[in-house]
Formats: sequence, C-alpha cells, structure tokens
Amino acid sequence: MVAAVAENGVIGNGPDIPWRIPGEQAEFKAITMGHTLVMGRTTFESIGRPLPGRTTVVLTKDETWSYDGVLVAHDIDTALALAAGEQGDTIIAGGAQVYEAAFPYATDQVITRVHLTPEGDVFYPSFDETEWVEMKREPHEAYDRVFLTRVEVADTADPGELWPVYQEVWGDETRDAFDGIWAAHSARDGFKIAAVRRGGNLVGFAWAYVGQRGQPWSDRITEALPAVAEEWVGRHWEVAELGVLDQWRGYGLGRALLRAVTDVPCERMVLETDADESKPAHRLYLCEGWLDIARVPDTDNVLMGKLQAPGSTVDPPS
Ligand SMILES: NC(=O)c1ccc[n+]([C@@H]2O[C@H](COP(=O)([O-])OP(=O)(O)OC[C@H]3O[C@@H](n4cnc5c(N)ncnc54)[C@H](OP(=O)(O)O)[C@@H]3O)[C@@H](O)[C@H]2O)c1
Repeated sequence: MVAAVAENGVIGNGPDIPWRIPGEQAEFKAITMGHTLVMGRTTFESIGRPLPGRTTVVLTKDETWSYDGVLVAHDIDTALALAAGEQGDTIIAGGAQVYEAAFPYATDQVITRVHLTPEGDVFYPSFDETEWVEMKREPHEAYDRVFLTRVEVADTADPGELWPVYQEVWGDETRDAFDGIWAAHSARDGFKIAAVRRGGNLVGFAWAYVGQRGQPWSDRITEALPAVAEEWVGRHWEVAELGVLDQWRGYGLGRALLRAVTDVPCERMVLETDADESKPAHRLYLCEGWLDIARVPDTDNVLMGKLQAPGSTVDPPS
C-alpha cells in the first residue's frame, strides 16, 4: 500500500488530494515505476490517465466501465489476482475504499506522513499499529516517509518455511532435529507463532506455549534449579524460540515478534537465553521488562522471567 496521509488522517478532499508538495510526486513515481497499481475508479478518474511505466488495475462495480490501456476488476480478489500476473509488485494506490478493501492482504505500507492538517473528507483507514513494524523512516521537511511491514500472528506455520530461518539462527541443528522440535512444540497447549515475511520470504519468527512439568525443558530446569522452578515452572508461558535473520536485525522485528507471542493473560512467563548481556536477544528481553532469574548450571544460559500484572490468570487459553 502506498499512501500520503496528513496528520489528521486526511488523504483526499472530494476527488482531489488537498496538497502539492514539491518532490513528493517524483518519489511516488520512483517507488511505483515498473510495478502494477490497483486503484479505485474515483482515484483513477481524478488522475485522468494510466500512469506511464506502470500497469493500472481499476476497481469498479460498473460492468460497463472501461478505459484504454487499463485492466478492470469488479472485486478486490479479482483485482489482486489480475495484478499478481502483471509486472513488478502489486501496489495499492488508493483511495480510501480500496485501501480498506486491500488492508487484510497488505504486507507492507509506504506512508508519506504529510506535516499538514488540511480540510478533507476522505481518510486513510485506521489500523492496529501493534501488527506493524517500522522498518525505515526518511525524514523530509514537509513529510516523513515511513516504511511499515506486517507481523503476522498465526496458530500454525509450514515447517519448511521456518527451517531456513531456524538453520541460520541456530546453525548447529539438523533438519530432523528441527522437525522433531516443531512436532512436539506445535502440539502444546496454547501454541502461538508469529512470523514476519519480506518479499514473500520468512525472515523471522517466534513461538510460545503453555509450559508444564513433564516437558523436557521444564524438567531440565526443575532438575538444575529446583528452588527457582518451584516458583516459576509449571503452567507458565514459555517463549521457546525467537529468531530473526541477520540482515533483518535492528528494525524492531524481534520486539514485535516477542510482543506478539507474549500477548497472553498469563502471570508467569519464562525463557532461556544466552547469559551474555551484550547479546541482542538478552538486551531485547531486558528492555521488554524481563529479568534474569538464575544462571542455568552447566550452560552459558540464563533463565529469564517476567511477571505480568497481578490478577492476570495463571492459565493462558488453551
Ligand atoms: N493521499 C493519497 O495517497 C491518495 C491516494 C489515492 C487517492 N486519494 C484520494 O482518495 C479519494 C478517493 O478515495 P475514495 O475512497 O473516495 O474512492 P476510491 O477508492 O478511489 O474509488 C472508489 C470507487 O472504486 C470502486 N471500488 C472501490 N472498492 C471496490 C471494491 N471492493 N469492489 C469494486 N469496486 C470498488 C467503486 O467504483 P464504482 O463507483 O465505479 O463502482 C468506488 O466507488 C480522492 O480524494 C483521491 O484524491 C488519495
């Protein structure tokens, strides 16, 4: 999705965009050139022609509507399917009705946050900001261009897609070992997985579930740290895996993944990580309010825990 949005959420006034910002159009051109634009009939007619160098798909309910050099669709699914067969990426170019219809399918947003509060009657749809991570921000005098990517929370995933990330992040595991871990963990109570994709490929994921005695990790911790386990282990929320490909670190994806898999009403949350506080993972957990509980004997690891608000239920939903 590519949109220019004013501070009051306005994207249009009647058929027009209520501002002209030097340079902004040129950047829109650079971002969209060679790709396929999906837009509403109102937006298309306001522009008045297909934009050169780009394929245009226009959405309209009007079965008789046509325009030379333009593809026409009558519902969002058909528009997206048509666009997928055309050049470059599919870019949703507005207006409000089309942004709204396309939001559930969107993986990225490039938003030009215009520093104005103009009169207008067309608004960008509101969206749940916790589902999106800011990957980049380009500040300009009259606007900031912000690149957002979606963090998907799912209750399952394809292990074949997870494996390349797992392999890079936990280099010493075999595929068989990973398949075994996946099979065991994904069957646990409350299993929750979050994933981030870029350009169709998975670049990071996290998963968590209800931890219980009798599970290998819980039993190992109970044996190694019996006093600590007394308080922390047994129907706790366990963050078992969290990894982001090297080249995608530093954008806040780890934080978004952690938040996505710990958004549960469970009083005690635990995880095990490298004890070295200079490691990014350890720093992330500290920043997110996790505390070191104890060094795990015979490992380089530390057990970390986080207590959620008193009164939250001990048992997460299964
Ligand atoms: N600031 C920005 O980045 C930006 C970008 C684009 C547009 N805009 C502004 O946004 C305003 C236009 O937005 P808008 O919401 O009024 O109109 P729009 O989304 O551009 O177009 C609405 C029309 O598209 C068709 N349509 C939309 N969703 C459809 C669907 N799911 N299935 C079939 N047809 C569908 C319908 O056409 P029919 O009526 O023909 O059936 C509908 O009337 C203008 O002010 C424009 O300048 C701003």
